[in-house]
Amino acid sequence: MILLPKFTFIPVSNSHDLSPNPYRKNEVIRLNQVWAGYDPHEPILEEINLTVHELDFLGLIGPNGGGKTTLIKVLLGLLKPLKGEVKIMGHSVIQGRRYLGYVPQILEFDRNFPVRVDEVVRMGRLGKGSLFRPYTKKDEEIVIQALEKVEMLDLRNRPIGELSGGQRQRVYIARALASEPQILLLDEPTASVDPKMCSSIYELLLKLNEYITIVMITHDINTMSSYVKTIGCLNRRFHYHGKQQITPKMLEQTYQNIGNREQGIGNRE
Ligand SMILES: Nc1ncnc2c1ncn2[C@@H]1O[C@H](COP(=O)(O)OP(=O)(O)O)[C@@H](O)[C@H]1O
Ligand SMILES: [Mg+2]
Repeated sequence: MILLPKFTFIPVSNSHDLSPNPYRKNEVIRLNQVWAGYDPHEPILEEINLTVHELDFLGLIGPNGGGKTTLIKVLLGLLKPLKGEVKIMGHSVIQGRRYLGYVPQILEFDRNFPVRVDEVVRMGRLGKGSLFRPYTKKDEEIVIQALEKVEMLDLRNRPIGELSGGQRQRVYIARALASEPQILLLDEPTASVDPKMCSSIYELLLKLNEYITIVMITHDINTMSSYVKTIGCLNRRFHYHGKQQITPKMLEQTYQNIGNREQGIGNRE
């Protein structure tokens, strides 16, 4: 295992194809020397250098509080970096975030929330066009296609509260797909899913990865390593080895120091 001081994400299949062009065509996400945090004096992410290539399936692991969700917020433009540069499809975050589909972490859920499956997926069309325009026939077609892709079309009229954790997650993935993204960002998609259903979510993501780049945060180290193409270990900085195998040493490197860090800057969770 090699720990590099600056980590570049290169899918295994493309690792021979390096070019001096700073934004090569198949780079879909690029972070250069990014520092980010909620307080300029206490950065959460330090010196992040990350390149994600087209059709990569990147699994991001790391300890709680290591900055994984913060990294997603930076990509979505919800948190402006303190320093450094973020490019999505070669554009600034403001221009590039329309290429992103986001599946947020489900922390808790009100089972009585009165909304149907197809209504949730339709919300994915909101970012397209003006805010108050009516839904068009094309929107409806895209919603149906998104439900088909996640195999939830049959349940489209069900209240979302009646679904299992795994089915609900499929609906949220369909909502993200309805925005027609080129890159799917998922924050712990299996966290609220029955362990038996986790692999069905991963199988779905594997299918989507045939045409969509995926960046997925997960704690599910054992299962995800047989699905992802690359793994990133994030604990404030990146610890990365570039392949899908994780060594005990690598985990040790990533998961160490979190205690020191929280002592140093305070745990705000
Ligand atoms: N909105 C916020 N304001 C201040 N601190 C925050 C905020 N969100 C997260 N943090 C802090 O940032 C650190 C990283 O959090 P997060 O990115 O959620 O980590 P992870 O997703 O890896 O568990 C934690 O110490 C957390 O307390
Ligand atoms: Mg998180």
